[in-house]
Amino acid sequence: MSKRVIIIGCGIAGPVLAMLLKHKGFDVVIYERQPEIQPSGLALGVSPQTFKVLNILGLAEPLIPLGQPLEEMTTYSQLRGELLGKTDGAAKIRAWLGWPLILVSRARYCQYLFDSAKDRGVEIHFNKRFVDVREEGEKVTAVFEDGTEAVGDLLVGCDGLHSGVRNSLFGKDEATYMGLVQIGGFAPQPEYFSSTKPGIMQVFGDGAHFICGQVNSTAMMWATTLPQPTEAFEDWRRLGNDETKEMLKGLQVAGWENGPKELVAATTFVTKYGLYERPILPVWHKGRVVLVGDAAHPTSPHLGQGANQAMEDCYHLVRLLCKAEPFTDSSLQTAFEEYERIRIPIVTQAVEGAKAEGARRVLVGKEACEARDELIASGGGNNPERQKLQMQLIQGPFMGESEI
Ligand SMILES: Cc1cc2nc3c(=O)[nH]c(=O)nc-3n(C[C@H](O)[C@H](O)[C@H](O)COP(=O)(O)OP(=O)(O)OC[C@H]3O[C@@H](n4cnc5c(N)ncnc54)[C@H](O)[C@@H]3O)c2cc1C
Ligand SMILES: *[C@@H]1O[C@H](CO)[C@@H](O)[C@H](O)[C@H]1NC(C)=O
Repeated sequence: MSKRVIIIGCGIAGPVLAMLLKHKGFDVVIYERQPEIQPSGLALGVSPQTFKVLNILGLAEPLIPLGQPLEEMTTYSQLRGELLGKTDGAAKIRAWLGWPLILVSRARYCQYLFDSAKDRGVEIHFNKRFVDVREEGEKVTAVFEDGTEAVGDLLVGCDGLHSGVRNSLFGKDEATYMGLVQIGGFAPQPEYFSSTKPGIMQVFGDGAHFICGQVNSTAMMWATTLPQPTEAFEDWRRLGNDETKEMLKGLQVAGWENGPKELVAATTFVTKYGLYERPILPVWHKGRVVLVGDAAHPTSPHLGQGANQAMEDCYHLVRLLCKAEPFTDSSLQTAFEEYERIRIPIVTQAVEGAKAEGARRVLVGKEACEARDELIASGGGNNPERQKLQMQLIQGPFMGESEI
């Protein structure tokens, strides 16, 4: 009889893990706490890593037109009032790795993954908030807030930053606020950008950073990162009209030249969220329970790697679970240890790289900002260290043929 895998969370990792497991003959079921897929969040960068994994399922090509393939990255300095550099790295990535780098609305991406999972017969239950797990012999039982339970052979926590699965395995080490907030939104593409190639445009300022890009042929997404000492709960709720107006009024970037001014003025709604971190655990499993994605290694968004790293987790975990069949305590232990051995060094680099980039983006003081701007200008519009790391990361999780 095929093994039953319980997946907690239907965000980005959950549906992909479910489809890969089902593709390999496992019996899967997803439990999500929300009543339905939420149209929240801004946009995600989807890089070749993700396309390689989705291509195993035939889901890579159809994703491309749902977002905007990127061609260039343009970087300005607010202090200098001028361009620091422009690279066509994104276009080169497609030629080099065979898959593009796209920007896509998170809501649209989540809906696509959910619809695909449903079409493939993955069983998905909403309004099921995981609260606890019990292990008895070779079975694992998930307990939900409504008092119901589900039994399987394995349980995977794909439940994000505040992972309840992680809490029940290893205790509640709270996510800590990083002292940074992001405010951002969507807008119809302003005339200003009509002659630029699709890509990422950013402006480094003194105490604030602005980033934007096309999410499809008509709309753009933007976000500004700001230091804010008091905790801002991460809450991706879309603000109403009046709240949006109020929020945009006091925003430094609303007056910035080279794009931000036009884009902020055209914004239809905004969302504001605090950035959080949680230590990367040295072990991601206990018995027959294992963590994937943000549940194991949440990251700040400055490298655009959160959702892509989650796909690499899915790939390796499924590959190793196939090798671990027939499941025994020891075959699973071996699979989970190998999964951690491969993934921890890479996600540690990604998380630390994103954190360092976040710090550079909100530097305060003329002197420090001038030095940073000089470094970026010398790298042709990119911090050379950041660029190197990003190029390295997007090559994962395998070269050549998939082993799934
Ligand atoms: C609402 C939201 C908006 C986001 N927007 C952006 C963005 O604009 N840009 C960006 O870079 N990153 C964003 N992120 C983060 C990004 O989605 C993740 O970094 C990345 O996709 C990793 O995916 P994941 O599947 O591990 O976690 P997530 O995408 O966070 O998915 C976790 C899922 O688990 C569910 N869940 C949580 N707890 C429980 C529980 N106890 N029981 C059952 N289900 C549970 C959640 O409702 C969610 O659907 C957002 C995250 C969320 C939750
Ligand atoms: C483009 O994205 C915006 C923002 O997510 C959305 O409102 C709009 O419907 C999209 N348009 C197309 C043509 O996909």
